[in-house]
Amino acid sequence: MQNQLTIAMPDDWHLHLRNGEVLTKVLPYTSRHFQRAIVMPNLQPPVITTQDAKNYQAEICAATPAEHKFTPLMVLYLTEGTSAADVKQGFLAGDVAAVKLYPAGATTNSDAGVKDLEKIYPVLAVMEEIGMPFLVHGEVVDSNVDIFDREAVFIDQKLIPIRRQFPNLKIVFEHLTTKDGVDYVRSCDSHTAATITTHHLVINRNAMLVGGIQPHYYCLPVAKRELHRLALREAATSGDHRFFLGTDSAPHLAQFKESACGCAGIFNVANSMAILAQVFEQERQLDNLEKFASINGPEFYNLAVNSGTMVLSRSDTALALPADVKTAAGNIKIFDPQMPVHWQVSAINY
Ligand code: DOR
Ligand code: ZN
Repeated sequence: MQNQLTIAMPDDWHLHLRNGEVLTKVLPYTSRHFQRAIVMPNLQPPVITTQDAKNYQAEICAATPAEHKFTPLMVLYLTEGTSAADVKQGFLAGDVAAVKLYPAGATTNSDAGVKDLEKIYPVLAVMEEIGMPFLVHGEVVDSNVDIFDREAVFIDQKLIPIRRQFPNLKIVFEHLTTKDGVDYVRSCDSHTAATITTHHLVINRNAMLVGGIQPHYYCLPVAKRELHRLALREAATSGDHRFFLGTDSAPHLAQFKESACGCAGIFNVANSMAILAQVFEQERQLDNLEKFASINGPEFYNLAVNSGTMVLSRSDTALALPADVKTAAGNIKIFDPQMPVHWQVSAINY
């Protein structure tokens, strides 16, 4: 049995960091294991302009522990009023890395998102021209579409038309949760890629619903049935360059998840690399972990692979779950994968 693995330093291509005290508390869990992260813009108020992104980036950099080497890659929150000129200028200046589509009403802080996709076509045309990645929360919001079908319906009703209109637009289908999504991405050329979260490789919808409602397993898009989890595991561990890690780590105070209307999001970044090593070992694909966590993402974003390395080690005894994160307003629970995890990050060499 393999007991040690060395990989290029990973990046997280989909991360929620929030701001204020929560940012300062959760950021070190990311910056100690990831050298870069695509930082989601769904703050209140959202990060809409390049100037907003620069301000937020400065806040993140100020909160990064001095001993960590971490670069936040900034993302603009797309609205029907987004300025194509600002997007272009921000990207060409290196201040923003991507633009994120939240269909209005799809998830946390998405109210300012897009209702009519055709209204944003002029921005997409500019992004296609300059090679700027378009990050998509791929769920329809129609109340008559079952929540478990929202990703598959989005592909047919929204994504296929966008792809047809903009064949060279770089699209990242974020936090893929279905076999339909995996099949769709595989059917596309290399202008389409997808992030996959740590938790969707580990849990199916039973985790959320069996034995009582389990709010700490509720996220959006919701975990689906087992056949979808298996398709995601196959895609993530295959080494296919179109699939890469986006933890979608999304911290919420426990009291807001354990409520009559609990919010969506799983804070998984503290133990993601350990859990991923366990998953890749289970699939007998440990050699592909580096592609998923460290190589495929930078390749899609046209960035160099990190020069630092991470060493992961396996011990015979399973490791304890890290302690909750404490903030003045309450605790943030760490994702419990409900399986023994024998791997841990044992060294980082920048
Ligand atoms: O579960 C989720 N939480 N999904 C999202 O799309 C947003 C995120 C959040 O910001 O909490
Ligand atoms: Zn997210």
